[in-house]
Amino acid sequence: MKPAWQERLEKSISKNKRDAHSRYFQLATVADDGTPRVRMVVFRGFAGSEESSLLIITDTRSQKISELKSCPRVEIGWYFTHTREQYRLRCNSEIFLGSKGPQEQRGLVWSRLSEAARAQFFWKTPGEAEGSGDAPPLAETPPDTFAVIGFQPFSVDHLILSKQQIRTKSLIKAGVWSEQRLNP
Ligand SMILES: Cc1cc2nc3c(=O)[nH]c(=O)nc-3n(C[C@H](O)[C@H](O)[C@H](O)COP(=O)(O)O)c2cc1C
Repeated sequence: MKPAWQERLEKSISKNKRDAHSRYFQLATVADDGTPRVRMVVFRGFAGSEESSLLIITDTRSQKISELKSCPRVEIGWYFTHTREQYRLRCNSEIFLGSKGPQEQRGLVWSRLSEAARAQFFWKTPGEAEGSGDAPPLAETPPDTFAVIGFQPFSVDHLILSKQQIRTKSLIKAGVWSEQRLNP
């Protein structure tokens, strides 16, 4: 059974789909020096109909990959402008790389990408001085630079900015979700 926060999040996504930016969320990681890093990413859907993992795609050469390897805990910040709702999801992460892990997710997500989105994984090393770095050889299949990351929430803070604000905290313990209303 889907947790209540996921039902609400799916409704928020659907009610805000007129705004292209409603598919973007902020992803915060922790760098090796213990300081935070945050960046925008595109939500690529949930891992499956039975799963609550949120999927994104990224380049394996990007900074966030090494950050996630040393600290797999992240926070996602997501604001829906039309319905004026904020979700803050604390998650564990799982990186689906080329060489290991289930290939289904990678293949499926890759097959849904536009040509332009695929092309970026054949560019030179992201984050290096312009023009330097290596570019992987062109291929039809997902290159090793292509990673899918799944974020599995364990704590969800949902704030609705209506006349009377509503704040709901959801927590999972021993596989069971519970919810509590908080003062906003
Ligand atoms: C609207 C928008 C959407 C983005 N979507 C993604 C994405 O889905 N995956 C990704 O890796 N980077 C995405 N980026 C780029 C990241 O914000 C970031 O610049 C890049 O991933 C490098 O981050 P890092 O060096 O911290 O790993 C997006 C940027 C913007 C502005």
